[in-house]
Formats: sequence, structure tokens, C-alpha cells
Amino acid sequence: MVDLSVQIGEVQLSNPVMPASGTFSYDFAEIIDLNRLGAMVAKTVSREFRVGNPTPRMAETEVGIIQSIGLPGNGIQYFLDEMLPEYKKYKPPLVVSISAETEDEFAAMARDISVPGVDVVEVNISCPTRDPTGGNFALQTRHTENVIRGIRAETEKPVWAKLSPNAGDIVSVALAAEEGGADAVVVANTFLSLKINTDNFKPALGNKFGGLVSPALKPIILRMVYQIAQETSIPIIGLGGVCKAEDVVEYMLAGASAVGIGYAAFRNPTALPAIIDDLEVWCSERKIEHISELIGSIRDQELETDTLKSARIGA
Ligand SMILES: Cc1cc2nc3c(=O)[nH]c(=O)nc-3n(C[C@H](O)[C@H](O)[C@H](O)COP(=O)(O)O)c2cc1C
Repeated sequence: MVDLSVQIGEVQLSNPVMPASGTFSYDFAEIIDLNRLGAMVAKTVSREFRVGNPTPRMAETEVGIIQSIGLPGNGIQYFLDEMLPEYKKYKPPLVVSISAETEDEFAAMARDISVPGVDVVEVNISCPTRDPTGGNFALQTRHTENVIRGIRAETEKPVWAKLSPNAGDIVSVALAAEEGGADAVVVANTFLSLKINTDNFKPALGNKFGGLVSPALKPIILRMVYQIAQETSIPIIGLGGVCKAEDVVEYMLAGASAVGIGYAAFRNPTALPAIIDDLEVWCSERKIEHISELIGSIRDQELETDTLKSARIGA
């Protein structure tokens, strides 16, 4: 029996696999056993009702989809009254993602969402399509640190900062989140992108820009997770392009304590439990008793890889 449990700060997960915000709700209980998930992650909640972005909101590309949903939702009160009780029918810890327009509004949202039954506050400072220009807090270290610091002052719940791959230097932004008091970083949200319809020369999406979601992005996010793990001391949740158990293993070897999954569950709604099953088999075949042993266990190359030195010794 493999121990698949992992610890993200004070939050204990039965396994390292959780859904990605915006791609999951308790409705999945009609298809999978939600109690098998490491955690449940709710779609981002805003203070008021939001209609979302103009349609079309999704377009296909050769390497995945670009989407610009725009965080539609019924607001925080509806979440607390109607949705939270539905989530609480299941055992895994509940991560609730929040979004806001200003630092003060973020702090107030964090305070209002910090009720019994919410286990983690995930701070969505990285949605590339909330603002039509793609702007968001996680592009800048100063904004990230300030918003997380304001939230930290208002809640005792664990705070996970969801970072943006569109930041020029995501390692510095992760350090800023840690400095502001984040308990973990989620790496990462989607890549700001554009598709143009060649029949009418218009952007394929109503919002013009969208966030690219694709398995092709996994190596890039994996590199970011590795680099962040070298510099920070808070746990990392790897998020981007996970399709199979080996992808989870890769993220953990690079330094992630757990992973999120969105796209793979669109293609196959049973992907999450299937990946959890495969992870257990993968570990047991290799006699790994505790999956947490994998975290950060990447090994450096033993061979000389410096091209100039190799050339000198005639390699
Ligand atoms: C349709 C759709 C809606 C999403 N909505 C949200 C959201 O509400 N909040 C958020 O933080 N991320 C949202 N995301 C981003 C995902 O949480 C995740 O970062 C992204 O899909 C990358 O993971 P994946 O490659 O496993 O899909 C959304 C993604 C998709 C495809």
C-alpha cells in the first residue's frame, strides 16, 4: 500500500491530485467519486454577480484551446449560501479561489470567505482575461506582495497565491508572494494568447485575448516550478498540462508538492481518479512507499554537460 498523502503547509491531502479552478464543480460527483480527490478547488468567486466575457469564449488551436471565460459567477453571497453546502458533502479539503479589482477588495473578500468549511483561500491574481488588456496583479512583484500582505492580515486560513506565467520573472513574483505571507504558490494560470479568424480577420474570441491551455505548456511550467523551488521555501502546486501519472511525478521531482488538473478532465472527465490510480501503481512498481519522497528529488546530470569543456576533452 503506497502512502500517497502530501502536506501543503498545514493542509493534509490524501493524494497530490486536485482539479484546477474553473474546470470543476461538485457536479462532477455524477461521474467520479469526489472523495478520491486530494482537494476540491472551486471556480473563482468575485464579490458581485459577473456576467463573464463576450462570446465566443473558447477557440481551438492545433495545440489546445484558448479561452476567455471572464470569471462569470453569482458572487460571494451565492457561493456561501448555495454552493458551499454542496461542496461540504464531500471529505477532501475545499480550496476557494477569489478574485477582486483592488487590494482592499481582495482583503475584504478573503475576510468574508474565511468561514468554517473553507479550508484554503486561493488568490487568483493571475487570470489573463479578467481585464481586457491582460493586466493582473501577478505580473508585478510589488502588487503581488501588497495584495497577499493585505489578505494575510484578514484571514487565518492558508493562503495560496496563483501566479501568472505571463510575468517576466515569475521567480521574483513567487518570492514576493512568500514575502507577503502566502503559504503556497500555485504555478501557474494560463498564457495570454491570441487567435485570429482568417475568414473575417477578427479575433476568434469576443474578448480578443484568451488564456492558452495545452499539454505543450507543461515543460515550460515545469521549468518555472523547478526554478521557484530553488529560491522559495513554501510549497508549490504545479498546474499546467498534466495528462498522466508521469506528469505528476515530473512536477513533484521538480519541486511541487501537488498538482492541479484542468484540461485533461475536459477531454476525459474520469482523468483525475484514473491518474490517482496510475500514480499508486507507478510508485508501487518502484517500491516507493511514500509519494512525498519524490518532492524535489530531481537529480543533476552526472555527465559533464558544459559544451566547451566537453570539446576540450575531445568528447
Ligand atoms: C474553461 C476554463 C476556465 C478557467 N477558469 C479559471 C478560474 O475561474 N480561475 C482560475 O484561477 N483559473 C481558471 N482557469 C485556469 C485553470 O485553473 C488552469 O490554470 C489551466 O487550465 C491550466 O491547467 P491545465 O493545463 O491542467 O488545464 C480556467 C481554465 C479553463 C480552461
